[in-house]
Amino acid sequence: MEKGLFITFEGADGSGKTTQLNMVKDFLIEKGFDVVVTREPGSLDIGKKIREILLHAKEIVADRCEMFLFLADRAQHVETYIKPALKQGKIVLCDRHTDSTIAYQGYGRNQDIELLKNLNKIAVNGIEPDLTLLYDVSTEIAQLRVGSEKDRMESAGMEFHKKVRNGYLELQKENPKRIKLINANNSIETVFEDTKNIIMNLIQEK
Ligand SMILES: Nc1ncnc2c1ncn2[C@@H]1O[C@H](COP(=O)(O)OP(=O)(O)O)[C@@H](O)[C@H]1O
Ligand SMILES: [Mg+2]
Repeated sequence: MEKGLFITFEGADGSGKTTQLNMVKDFLIEKGFDVVVTREPGSLDIGKKIREILLHAKEIVADRCEMFLFLADRAQHVETYIKPALKQGKIVLCDRHTDSTIAYQGYGRNQDIELLKNLNKIAVNGIEPDLTLLYDVSTEIAQLRVGSEKDRMESAGMEFHKKVRNGYLELQKENPKRIKLINANNSIETVFEDTKNIIMNLIQEK
């Protein structure tokens, strides 16, 4: 693959994104692919500082401050990490990306969705995922999986998380070719089978 492959993992906290991403990484490395794993927010040094504010701030974070911080992290991450990795032909597996902004800050926090889409465009400066895996899980199950030690975003309440889930489903309907819906209520093994099938189809198409 000359231009690499950019795959993003999206869905609620507790949907199983990180679990699946790590399984995909091992699976693809085993197959001989050159794979890198990353996440938003907070993959690099600047990002880690931004992540600390976003997830553990001691004061109230204004909604628009939150929005710009996520976008600032993304702009830095794309420029200094994702783009170079894709140029080198790597498969980039990214835990959360642009759709999280639309689902959380747009649908969840009621920020202007069209505006957020434009800001995302500025942040990513011309790249788009080849594939987005959307892990859809009932909000109740997701909250149970997250457990009691929640960060600032995770503790935002059931109503917020239901709006986020609905937002993700809307995005999937708008972008059925890029975003593939996976039933994440199922067992880890079943979810991984679905994930693998989708990824192998994509790799065969390329
Ligand atoms: N399909 C699943 N069924 C049951 N538990 C799961 C499943 N997927 C993940 N988990 C568990 O739920 C918790 C959250 O999973 P994680 O992968 O960290 O989710 P996310 O990264 O989406 O927040 C972990 O303890 C994980 O082992
Ligand atoms: Mg995770």
